[in-house]
Amino acid sequence: MQRVFSGIQPTGVPQLGNYLGAIRNWVTLQNDHDCVFCLVDMHALTVWQDPAALREQTLGQTACLLAAGIDPTRHILYNQSAVSAHARLGWLFNCVVRLGWLNRMTQFKDKAGKDRENHSAGLYVYPSLMAADIHAFHATRVPVGDDQRQHLELANDIGQKFNHDYGVDFFPVIEPLIPPGAARIMSLRDGTKKMSKSDPSAQSRIDMTDTPDEIALKIRRAKTDPEPLPSEEAGLAGRPEARNLVAIYAAMSDETSAQVLARFGGEGFGPFKKALAEVLVAKLGPVADETRRLLRDPGHLQAILCDGASRAEAICEPIVTEAERLVGFLR
Ligand code: TYM
Repeated sequence: MQRVFSGIQPTGVPQLGNYLGAIRNWVTLQNDHDCVFCLVDMHALTVWQDPAALREQTLGQTACLLAAGIDPTRHILYNQSAVSAHARLGWLFNCVVRLGWLNRMTQFKDKAGKDRENHSAGLYVYPSLMAADIHAFHATRVPVGDDQRQHLELANDIGQKFNHDYGVDFFPVIEPLIPPGAARIMSLRDGTKKMSKSDPSAQSRIDMTDTPDEIALKIRRAKTDPEPLPSEEAGLAGRPEARNLVAIYAAMSDETSAQVLARFGGEGFGPFKKALAEVLVAKLGPVADETRRLLRDPGHLQAILCDGASRAEAICEPIVTEAERLVGFLR
């Protein structure tokens, strides 16, 4: 069975983009893969995190992932910092990756903006730690949203350069698994911006723990344009907000955008938004309820992470120890 690895930063609550771009795929892949899912708290630390909030959000996201259908007994769920192999392989990869490669990373440029000098070195080498996460497990399939595509290309470049430099065939090629219809869910306030946990406006996203009323209100207030919905996909050109809402409806109801437009085309946004809110509440409502229930027992959540960390360690420790031997570290 092929091994899947994927991660999510425990900052804030997972939002609809995380769900449709990644988490939903994770749940399905559990049927026919060995899966390792990781709350990447070391990646979160690349920008300032309040310590108490980081701890709380790590448990919050654990609850949310379990509620969404991650099975921690058949698969592995843990937090990155609990397994030191990530940091060790991350260092080896910092010595493999070239500055020129890191300079091309669009996510660093977006996050650092013009104020590059004032960002952490961790943010800059973020992609080599991400490569280490995956390669430490010899994982071959990585389910992510479209925004991680470039990082996965770099992870392959790093793995292949390591193999080449040390004359080995040690790190396998990684295949990104990016869902076709929901690879990039956009903000509800601006259809040209990605939906994100870190957007200061809560109205820009649906959180996986939102109540039915919050979901309905956010969808009602979602930005649209004055035209009715088109009957065909070509009519969505130049209408990013309409395209996004149709894509969300299609992904949530396992339909294509064309099928959704065949039903709602020609109507105004009023009835469509009502139907969209209903689909979202029907799917996310039970996840939010189960998340709240699980959060009543933080000890249980911590025990799950702790068990996951020791099982993760059993897999990646020998791989990373071998990488350290290959580079010439003496033990
Ligand atoms: P993070 O925490 O930003 O997001 C977690 C996952 O959600 C996807 N995603 C989206 N998909 C569609 N539309 C959106 N608006 C949207 N927003 C987020 C992301 O693509 C991601 O799959 N660097 C990663 C975490 C990471 C990782 C890894 C992932 C660290 N190590 C190793 C895979 C393998 C990140 O910041 O994800």
